[in-house]
Amino acid sequence: MVGKFSKRTIKDVPIDNKTVLVRVDYNVPLDEDGKIADDFRIQASLGTIRYLMKRGCKVVLISHLGRPEGREEKFSLAPVAKRLGELLGKKAIFVEDCIGDKVRMAVKKASKNTITLLENLRFYKEEEANDQKFAKSIARDTGARYFVQDGFGVVHRAHASTDAITCFAPSVAGLLLEREIRSIRGVMDSPKHPVVAILGGAKVSDKMPVIEALEPIADKILIGGAMANTFLRVAGVNLGKSKCEDGQEDQVSEIYELAKNKVGAENVDDFLVLPKDLAAGEDVHSSHRESFNADEFPADKMALDIGDETIEQFVDILKDAKTVIWNGTLGYAENEAFAHGSARVALALATSPEVTSVIGGGDTADFVRDWDAKKGGSFSHVSTGGGASLELIAGDKLPGVEALLDA
Ligand code: ADP
Ligand code: 3PG
Ligand code: MG
Repeated sequence: MVGKFSKRTIKDVPIDNKTVLVRVDYNVPLDEDGKIADDFRIQASLGTIRYLMKRGCKVVLISHLGRPEGREEKFSLAPVAKRLGELLGKKAIFVEDCIGDKVRMAVKKASKNTITLLENLRFYKEEEANDQKFAKSIARDTGARYFVQDGFGVVHRAHASTDAITCFAPSVAGLLLEREIRSIRGVMDSPKHPVVAILGGAKVSDKMPVIEALEPIADKILIGGAMANTFLRVAGVNLGKSKCEDGQEDQVSEIYELAKNKVGAENVDDFLVLPKDLAAGEDVHSSHRESFNADEFPADKMALDIGDETIEQFVDILKDAKTVIWNGTLGYAENEAFAHGSARVALALATSPEVTSVIGGGDTADFVRDWDAKKGGSFSHVSTGGGASLELIAGDKLPGVEALLDA
């Protein structure tokens, strides 16, 4: 189930021994002490970097980290360079700027097979403004002969390092970008049925277009998390203090209209499956969970996970699935007491070898990698993208991909 990819990649161009500028997405989560909390995105970039090193390239990496206002040292990429060096078993040279003399000197001094990481692009406001002059400076100061886009997580943004930069060097895709798009498009374009989509999480309005895009291809859509709370509230169910998003009535009724047209009014609840029961707590820190039927939910509690009966129902449905697309945790999974739903779904996918499972969303990817002894290896594809994977599923054009050379 490999999808189409219509852009040129690093394998299609004579890249040997060249200076190559690679946009990666090293926007990694940091803990309270500013340490890298998860290096998934750094690990995911190694394939392209190793490929280019084998071909004798001088590799210059660029990325953003966080959303700094100007130069803010806590958003420096210096710790990422250190971690990258440890993972590669070879030092990554770090340059304290992404344009200017420091960059020119460092790249000039670097020999073949070296990796240089430049400082956070977003220390310059020109990055997010998609500024042509800034992009030109990056290309000129690094002396790049090729630009490689491998930061899948950021290709939904039209920024200087994803869009404008492609005017200043022949621009091709890296191996991670290609794999992400082929995996996600593969399940969207030609999935093996039954296809089950699981939607949860808290970014409810962001994900409404994703549900709509999945309705034509899915055989069932399971809804959990604060997304389910929102659907239930729109249906008139009182869920006490539960997290919901307001103003979703029109979106929800549009989704039900599409569902009725697809499966007929009498089958809608079998197609769009909402939780029958919900696991409640006093607040997100509660260590005690108790399941209640949705229509008997206590006014003073919060629904923080799908309920125990719903978990069994979801797992049962997943037994027949051949393709599963999962985006959004099914509850407040940061608290173990409310991670049961997400963990049982992860277990169901990890233990069915015949199912193709594609998992997206920053929090969902973190959850399954943390849950999985193989760090995500038990699933067909765990995406490094949050917003980018959602936009890809929803069928939107991704500016950072559009700008690359066609195959
Ligand atoms: P992703 O990053 O995977 O796309 P979202 O960002 O949409 O997912 O949502 C993940 C967040 O949703 C997590 O922080 C999780 O705790 C929260 N969440 C899920 N279900 C609930 C719930 N029932 N009540 C409160 N928060 C929830
Ligand atoms: C992400 O983490 O989703 C990407 O790195 C994009 O970051 P942004 O939402 O700050 O543009
Ligand atoms: Mg999230």
